[in-house]
Amino acid sequence: MSQQVKIQLDGQDVELPLIEGSEGEKALDVSKLRAQSGYITYDGGFGNTGACQSGITFVQGEKGILRHRGYSIEGLCEHASFLEVAYLLIYGELPTQSELTAFMDEITQHTLIHEDLRRIYDALPKDAHPMAILSSVVCCLSTFYQDSLDYSNPDHVRLSIIRLLAKLPTIAAFTYKKSIGQPLIYPRNDLSYTANFLNMMFALPTESYHVDPDISEALDQLLILHGDHEQNCSTSTVRMVGSSHANLFASVSAGICALWGPLHGGANQAVLEMLQAIHEDGDDVEKYVNLAKDKTSDFRLMGFGHRVYKNFDPRAQIIKSSVDKVLNKLGVKDPLLGIARKLEEIALNDEYFSQRKLYPNVDFYSGIIYRALGFPSDMFTVLFSIGRLPGWIAQWKEMMEDQSRIARPRQIYTGSTERDYVPIDQRS
Ligand code: SDX
Repeated sequence: MSQQVKIQLDGQDVELPLIEGSEGEKALDVSKLRAQSGYITYDGGFGNTGACQSGITFVQGEKGILRHRGYSIEGLCEHASFLEVAYLLIYGELPTQSELTAFMDEITQHTLIHEDLRRIYDALPKDAHPMAILSSVVCCLSTFYQDSLDYSNPDHVRLSIIRLLAKLPTIAAFTYKKSIGQPLIYPRNDLSYTANFLNMMFALPTESYHVDPDISEALDQLLILHGDHEQNCSTSTVRMVGSSHANLFASVSAGICALWGPLHGGANQAVLEMLQAIHEDGDDVEKYVNLAKDKTSDFRLMGFGHRVYKNFDPRAQIIKSSVDKVLNKLGVKDPLLGIARKLEEIALNDEYFSQRKLYPNVDFYSGIIYRALGFPSDMFTVLFSIGRLPGWIAQWKEMMEDQSRIARPRQIYTGSTERDYVPIDQRS
């Protein structure tokens, strides 16, 4: 019998079960609250509400802890490859060498997209935001691969997972090439996952292109850092859409749309645009810190703050430590890096930010590296999507296997109470 907690509502005792997770997190199970008391809970933005029980990722915001299936993000970044972490997230265990080789080989065999699907790009405007294209093309995968849409068929699920992991980099690179009017570069089976993506992004049919292994490794680490992050906005969206038994492609397409928002994954693009604006405004960092504190302005310090991390974002720390290494390797001197560092220093010593526990998050420095690697800023959130894909898949798969109920929140109604219809000739 689980522990119970008793509360009184309108003089009536209500007993609620307590739930405790493997890391000691505690929750009140309110699933029977309305039936017992007529009350519901209210928690705008779900800051205090657990939507599910999950064994995939543990985040402890006060201590800056991030673990996937029990492994620390620091250890995974140091020792694992992106596809190894993807396997861990999706299947729950680090793969053996033979499991990883089979996983990688199968993904390699599915990197092409249907030639008819490629034609969608011709119909879209050249200046379309890549996230709009990514979400559209991913959803359209469900029209070309109708043989693997049944969420209850393990073979369908496994094939859809492989297809999605294999094709997202191709879809992303094709999006970029179309936007700059260059010929599409098709996937190559002799390249690793991340090197293949870089080749599709930056190679030209007119000359040979060498993927720098250090660059490929730096990007692989960035993808790992974005792998999963428990019930963030886009993952909750994937779960919400999937809870209606929508297929994996449709659920991930919805997640891509949620990630696009500048308060979420779109922040990495917004950070670069903010740093560029500060640079063009004479590097006046103080002015923008004051603007971020000014409640009459809607300006926010993009890349700062987090719903869960109230001390530091471990991912931001890892990215910050690799910025110099990557830029030095590339011989890139980026004035925006100096601005970012000054912004961080001023903000961390300003009580407006410390009182609100606002620290740099995963998006604050990532764009500096992406820019140095040659990516345009409107592709930054696409990179976030490629990194987050294994997390979305793992969370969708866990929810389907848990046979969760359809997500259908309640509300508190605050509109007009009952009133009679007024004929149009009597309305003023
Ligand atoms: C990601 O959830 C995840 O795990 C997300 C993510 C993942 O891996 O999936 O980690 C990825 O989305 C990282 C966050 C990227 N977004 C940004 O960098 C955008 C800028 N940051 C914020 O808009 C904000 O901090 C959020 C959205 C990240 C968090 O918002 P919350 O938790 O709802 O906090 P809030 O808006 O209620 O802010 C609390 C206070 C407010 O001031 P007061 O009303 O108390 O006076 O802090 C202020 C806010 O005005 N504040 C900021 C600020 N962020 C919060 N003030 C200035 N600049 C900021 N960036």
